[in-house]
Amino acid sequence: MTVPLTGRAAAAAGDDRELRAPDPGPGEEVGAGAAPALPWSQRHLLDLDIVSPAEIDSVLTLAERMLEVLERRIARVPTLRGFTVFTLFYEPSTRTRASFELAGKVLGADVVNVSPQSASVQKGESLVDTVRTLSAMEANAIVMRHASAGAPYLAARHSAASIVNAGDGAHAHPTQALLDLFTIRRQLGGIAGRRVVMIGDIAHSRVARSDIWGLTAMGAEVVICGPPTLLPRGLRAGERPEHAREALPPVRVETDIRRALEGADVVMALRLQAERQQGGLLPSLREYARLYQVTAERFALARPGALLMHPGPKNEGIEIASDIATGDHSIIERQVTNGVAVRMALLYLLSGRGAPEAAGGAS
Ligand code: MLT
Repeated sequence: MTVPLTGRAAAAAGDDRELRAPDPGPGEEVGAGAAPALPWSQRHLLDLDIVSPAEIDSVLTLAERMLEVLERRIARVPTLRGFTVFTLFYEPSTRTRASFELAGKVLGADVVNVSPQSASVQKGESLVDTVRTLSAMEANAIVMRHASAGAPYLAARHSAASIVNAGDGAHAHPTQALLDLFTIRRQLGGIAGRRVVMIGDIAHSRVARSDIWGLTAMGAEVVICGPPTLLPRGLRAGERPEHAREALPPVRVETDIRRALEGADVVMALRLQAERQQGGLLPSLREYARLYQVTAERFALARPGALLMHPGPKNEGIEIASDIATGDHSIIERQVTNGVAVRMALLYLLSGRGAPEAAGGAS
């Protein structure tokens, strides 16, 4: 299936003006009659393991256009008018939730935030009932975050709406990975052949897992680095038990941060996921910072012009030094801005606008 960039909403609005029109006012459409069709066959976005490189490329290509919309004087288009997005976050979030909300609103969708902390969940309502309830309110997409790995997969089985996984336990965070891919591609001109080094609590990081799928699919070389207690088992090529083969693609594994950083094109620092760790994995925070903090001196081992990334929230002084977190190489805030464009692109693709056969209907 392919999704042309011109949507049903464009036809309904009788508006087929180009996305690239210079700084138009409100009411302009994200549509481009002459634009090439983009491959996309997903009804939900649960993780990147089943998203093809061509589909990832669709999101990144469309996100470029969405960034242009965001840069307009009045960043509002009616492309997703009549499309309803619910956000349902059982865990805290600043960036992900706010950027989905903004992404939907910029595209003219209705966005409703449901807070489980003050919803019927407190009266014992199950996840499945909550998802069915939102579906009954004609939700088109439900963006959900949950502490349990696999919760969005359960939701997808009971939802007429598209489910977007905004983080499930230590398992996956696919839109963070997409925005990381988009940022690397924009900054370095491509992803294939780039060496991306992730440092920190890989074992409990859903960002690391989705990034590993996305980066390897797009041809990057992935290096993970951290203390042995914070590295998932079975990731080293050649050491992988049969059952782990499908769990993640092989990556280079290092416990020495200096060796890991040599020749890096991208350095990604990851937060210690204290909320998901059992005790006893680290002798002390001070010891961890001494051995694994990304400092200016260590960062200098990467290639000249290397990028410093972090999905946030960051704990400066632990996994990343304060001076470098906001220094010249840091593109951490750029990641946040790009996250809005990537989520706009994703909502657009999931909406099936321009490809009616892709929209609606439970699988
Ligand atoms: C997440 O939700 O996983 C964040 O984006 C990264 C983190 O919490 O460290």
